[in-house]
Amino acid sequence: MRQSPPPRTYRVKSFGCQMNVYDGERMAELLAERGLSAAPEGEDADLVVLNTCHIREKAAEKVYSDIGRLRREDGSSPLIAVAGCVAQAEGDEIMSRAPAVSMVVGPQAYHRLPGMLEKATKGERATDTDMPADAKFSALPARRKAGPTAFLTVQEGCDKFCTYCVVPYTRGAEISRPCSDLVTEAQRLVEAGAREITLLGQNVNAWTGDDDKGRAIGLDGLIKKLAKLPDLQRIRYTTSHPNDMTDGLIAAHGEVDKLMPYLHLPVQSGSDRVLKAMNRSHTADSYLRLLERVRAARPDIALSGDFIVGFPGETDAEFEETLSLVDAVGYAAAFSFKYSPRPGTPAATMDDQIALAVMDERLQRLQAALNRDQLAFNKASVGKVCKVLVERRGKYPGQWLGKSPWLQSVHFEGEAAIGDIVTVELAEAGPNSLSGRLLAPTIA
Ligand code: 5AD
Ligand code: SF4
Repeated sequence: MRQSPPPRTYRVKSFGCQMNVYDGERMAELLAERGLSAAPEGEDADLVVLNTCHIREKAAEKVYSDIGRLRREDGSSPLIAVAGCVAQAEGDEIMSRAPAVSMVVGPQAYHRLPGMLEKATKGERATDTDMPADAKFSALPARRKAGPTAFLTVQEGCDKFCTYCVVPYTRGAEISRPCSDLVTEAQRLVEAGAREITLLGQNVNAWTGDDDKGRAIGLDGLIKKLAKLPDLQRIRYTTSHPNDMTDGLIAAHGEVDKLMPYLHLPVQSGSDRVLKAMNRSHTADSYLRLLERVRAARPDIALSGDFIVGFPGETDAEFEETLSLVDAVGYAAAFSFKYSPRPGTPAATMDDQIALAVMDERLQRLQAALNRDQLAFNKASVGKVCKVLVERRGKYPGQWLGKSPWLQSVHFEGEAAIGDIVTVELAEAGPNSLSGRLLAPTIA
């Protein structure tokens, strides 16, 4: 491996989930603390971090093609670090197949990136995929920068072992970050300009901690603590597991004004046989009853979910049960995927893998139903007066884009600035956004 001068600029490219976005931001902060600056748009960076995702598709193959594309015209490459879940799952293979990569760092080890970088400039290649995460967060620099909406990882890992999912292997066992650290980090984010914080975790509602008197609290307790930060206006959380929706968390949706009326609660399938084979430990009916309780606590809540079509052995009739569940819920938003065998997971070696053409057809039908419901939800919002948190400028002069409490994208025209919370009347609805009429200027 060649030696290289210490890099001056970096680029972090994050793929996949919001937790990767959070990790990508933290890696950028680590590099900035070491004196590197972000490479300007369109310019080559001296160091590129590919922060990868392994949840679906041919993620590993994508990493190799991304590495290939980093090669410059003169044949040289920047320093390359592969981070994220592909690094965790396939680190050794990346090192042997891709000589241009000098660092492989897993999601629980990226706080050691600066040390690895030092070695890499001397021409040494290094892999660090150690778990668990205990040391990581305390080794990261304090938060200094934030847009109006910020992510805060409160929990990592997963002990649920759904049979299709790679997360328990790449992200490790469930760990919760301590409450006091989270309040401190949230406070910093707010001081840096965040008006909304989304609490993140693979199983965010499994978060547990102790309050300052040493009493055990759950995610609802954490949300109530964060709601006391005066300049924090909105709190969200994702992603939750149905089995960890406690009474307290459900009640919090009716009690805490700053907790936004939106719940992402993956169901994956509407068939009890498939759910059992997925090791989901809930049924279609128990899920629907849970949603009834959530709606009783917060009647206007927007519900969202994740779905997998074509899990091994899924019959036409079982897929129809998923469509019936969708009809019963009326989702405001949803994410749906074709089943993708993940190496090392139990489902990857199950009999009756479903043909791609069948999965394609099922996905199309499911997405048509979900899109129909999303549009219906947006149309039903027309006429409502709500607060919109302004996130950025729109395409046209004088236009702004922001989010409603129900996480809908809303565009409107008038006097505003990024970070404002404005009052808007929702005027017209499309499948992916609404237009609004500005009623009152900034409240905060
Ligand atoms: N194939 C397809 N979709 C998957 N997901 C997780 N693992 C797989 C897989 N092997 C989906 C689930 C999960 C979301 C984050 O990704 O729906 O909730
Ligand atoms: Fe994966 Fe299931 Fe854990 Fe979600 S709950 S991260 S789908 S194993």
